[in-house]
Amino acid sequence: MIETSIVYRNMKKYNFFKISRAEGSLLYDKEGNKYIDFTSAWNVTNLGWNHPEINEAIIKQTAKNTQGLLWGSDPIQEAYAEKLTSVLPKELDACTKATGGTEAIEESIKVARAATGRRKIIGFKKSYHGQLFASMALGYSSESVERIAPLVPDFIQMDFPTKEAGEDSFNNFKSEIEKILAKQDVAAIISEPGIITGWGSTSIAFPGFLKVLRELTQKYNTLLIIDEVGTGFSRTGKLFGIEHENVVPDMIVFAKGISNGAAAIGTVVGKSAIFEATFPYVNLISTFGWTPLACAVALKTLEIHLREKTWEQAEKKGNYIIEKLKLLLDKSIINLRGLGMEIGLELKDSETARRVIDLAYKKGLHVIIGSENNIQLMPPLTIPQNLLDDGLEILIKTIEKES
Ligand SMILES: Cc1ncc(COP(=O)(O)O)c(C=O)c1O
Repeated sequence: MIETSIVYRNMKKYNFFKISRAEGSLLYDKEGNKYIDFTSAWNVTNLGWNHPEINEAIIKQTAKNTQGLLWGSDPIQEAYAEKLTSVLPKELDACTKATGGTEAIEESIKVARAATGRRKIIGFKKSYHGQLFASMALGYSSESVERIAPLVPDFIQMDFPTKEAGEDSFNNFKSEIEKILAKQDVAAIISEPGIITGWGSTSIAFPGFLKVLRELTQKYNTLLIIDEVGTGFSRTGKLFGIEHENVVPDMIVFAKGISNGAAAIGTVVGKSAIFEATFPYVNLISTFGWTPLACAVALKTLEIHLREKTWEQAEKKGNYIIEKLKLLLDKSIINLRGLGMEIGLELKDSETARRVIDLAYKKGLHVIIGSENNIQLMPPLTIPQNLLDDGLEILIKTIEKES
């Protein structure tokens, strides 16, 4: 869609939103109309839009320094690396500099290949990890990218073993993945931590998924890379998604909620020994990766999550949303899945979903379709109870009317 002089993908399935101001859980268009936000810009503004303390941190850092050096560091970059690694398992002791999720995913793939001397990478079908060639090779079907193929060779895509598919299917998955790993030529597995947030289908893995991935990757010397771009920073009811199964991967990729939307920043947090082993082969250079401004923002964002225990709000409000929507299950909603405040609700078809989000928008709720008939709810985790209730009332009434 070329609605302005900026190029957009055909965004017909979303509400094309000309946002002109935002605050907390409210968005305003240029006519001054107000909308309750149930998207957080897709898992970015987890602490609410334009958080005053984060904006203040930008102003303070601007007075000191805004640009970093490729060959040096600024104290705020050091401070952020220290803080982020301090809240992660102690084995993960070093951070790369990147400007966002895709770049960090690509860094992790380069590091994995160089560190292991192996080429193959396992990803999961219909998972989303970004828009560059290697990140797309992880989850895009080859038919959907025919015109821009080939992507990157030696990527293996597996079916994501969902909770709904049940135990037998999970057992099949275990033997299938072990067969592949046993050949000892897979550099890494890349997965979100048990819930797919990136593609919009909101699939939840069978319990034990992460533990199985960890055990098998360790057994066959494959690296485990967890993409926490969408799940990180309290979204799923834990500060980080890996905490659901207490698994320590070899690398974790962060972006999105890392800065609460106030700066472009991403990172791969991993074991320094792995990074060091790849120095002769991999250049992890990013001119705008980890600008001091972005680090000041990310540091303040993390401090607020820790101080407020924001993940607790995500868990509580997530359960509340599920309880309310459950009443529509088997009537208008055909499927409901969620973890924390990452919730997918399936309506009977994509046309109904489209009508629901259009009508909800007219009534003052900004909500989006994740994929096809799945509406993906990702409100700011700090949304006040009254706005959450108002938003849910609009959503529920609209679903009841339109289905
Ligand atoms: C799970 C996941 N990984 C990676 C990415 C890519 O991140 P970015 O858009 O910052 O490049 C996204 C973006 O939606 C995502 O949801």
